[in-house]
Amino acid sequence: MQYTWNDIERHVAACTHCPLSRTRQRPVMGRGDHQAALMLIAEAPGGQEDQQGIPFVGRSGEILDDLLRDCGLSREEIYITNILKCHPPGNRDPKEEEKEACFPYLKYETYLLKPKIIVCLGRVAAQRIISSDFKITRQHGTWTYRKNCALTATYHPSAILRDISKYEIVKEDFCEIVKKRTELYTHSSI
Ligand code: URA
Repeated sequence: MQYTWNDIERHVAACTHCPLSRTRQRPVMGRGDHQAALMLIAEAPGGQEDQQGIPFVGRSGEILDDLLRDCGLSREEIYITNILKCHPPGNRDPKEEEKEACFPYLKYETYLLKPKIIVCLGRVAAQRIISSDFKITRQHGTWTYRKNCALTATYHPSAILRDISKYEIVKEDFCEIVKKRTELYTHSSI
């Protein structure tokens, strides 16, 4: 059976596959342009996202919007989602079993979107999507190619909240991502 975006959203809304379903306020489905070439994947909704059911509406979201704007991007032209669709209490790292329980939703989102570029925001997403030993400090901004998709990672916006000097580093990574998108559309070999 071919799932649609509405099907995924309905399944996420009713999901009880892990204990986070008992502590969440609202599940947080990915958002954005369903035709986007660029998919951003972070780790899990924070407290604000849990209350509103929308990704990146808290302080990390404000930083993300600044980064996007500084690189000439907007939320309307990208798709943003998380590995986990439910908030882990106290913002702790997602547990392995939670990531596994939630992963099928991310797979369906990726299958429907067919992004040309996937950007992992932070270590948790990079280690789940790119490589289990991914080191964000050493490898952010590097590219990996898989099927018809270019993958990269940069720091999570919350890392900028802890250390503002990272803003310029992440901005450079984002500007390279925009260049890559242009490049892929200009001489499309992947
Ligand atoms: N942090 C995340 O990883 N995801 C969100 O949606 C918000 C904050």
